[in-house]
Amino acid sequence: MPKNITRVTSKLRKTAALLRDESLRAYVPVTARMNRHTLRNMLDTHRMVYVKPNVGTFGNGVIRVEKRGEGKDAYWFQSGAKARSFRSFAAMFAALSQAKARRPYLVQKGIHLLKHNGRRFDLRVMVQHNLQQRWETTGIIGRLAHPKKIVTNYHNGGTPMKAETLLGSHMPAARRTRMMSRLKQLGLSTARQMSRSFPGVKEIGLDVALDHTLHPWILEVNTNPDPYIFRVLKDKSMFRKVIRYAKAYGRIRK
Ligand SMILES: Nc1ncnc2c1ncn2[C@@H]1O[C@H](COP(=O)(O)OP(=O)(O)O)[C@@H](O)[C@H]1O
Ligand SMILES: [Mg+2]
Repeated sequence: MPKNITRVTSKLRKTAALLRDESLRAYVPVTARMNRHTLRNMLDTHRMVYVKPNVGTFGNGVIRVEKRGEGKDAYWFQSGAKARSFRSFAAMFAALSQAKARRPYLVQKGIHLLKHNGRRFDLRVMVQHNLQQRWETTGIIGRLAHPKKIVTNYHNGGTPMKAETLLGSHMPAARRTRMMSRLKQLGLSTARQMSRSFPGVKEIGLDVALDHTLHPWILEVNTNPDPYIFRVLKDKSMFRKVIRYAKAYGRIRK
């Protein structure tokens, strides 16, 4: 990894950096360090939350937790393709503590992702330093979750797809065009804010969820985003630009 590029692994540190910009707050789901109390409170408030390793990639170790009501599935969680139900918070928390690794986790308000052919999807927004050393949004791509999974990651059974196709089934063409520019703008604001806290960052990949009101939510900001996901698209123009910029700042060899 080139020495001149900063990577930030802690999701909580990156979230804290975004929250320092007031204009970004509306896009960041409520997030806290995970413990018995924050998990219980967030389940009471939001009913569905995501529990994730503070340092992690590829959707590994990500757990979706729900508070559903009364009876034998009052609480529920899924990690990987395996889901389990519980009668009480205490029983659920005990099993969750077994299922997770012994390292810091965060708990985040869950977003009910839009679906395409019955599969959840979110969007990856790639923002890079261009040849003039200015931030530029170079690519947006959709990622469809494996039907049995709760994460959309390519390395976890997800399928990358043209963003316009996924958005197209939820909004008319004019709205879709506006959504694409809004996502580009959101990428730029996020990149600028990230560089205030982490000056050596040269590329970021935002994981953006859309809820049923079409509000965008930043689920995480990757400082080591995979450029090759864009290679799967038939139109290679985004991929070529992503690679050109990545070579220019020395992330991949020329
Ligand atoms: N708050 C959330 N609401 C809904 N889905 C989420 C949430 N957080 C994560 N996910 C899903 O899990 C995936 C992986 O989570 P992410 O925070 O991006 O961690 P990783 O670093 O492992 O990619 C996301 O791309 C998304 O599909
Ligand atoms: Mg991610």
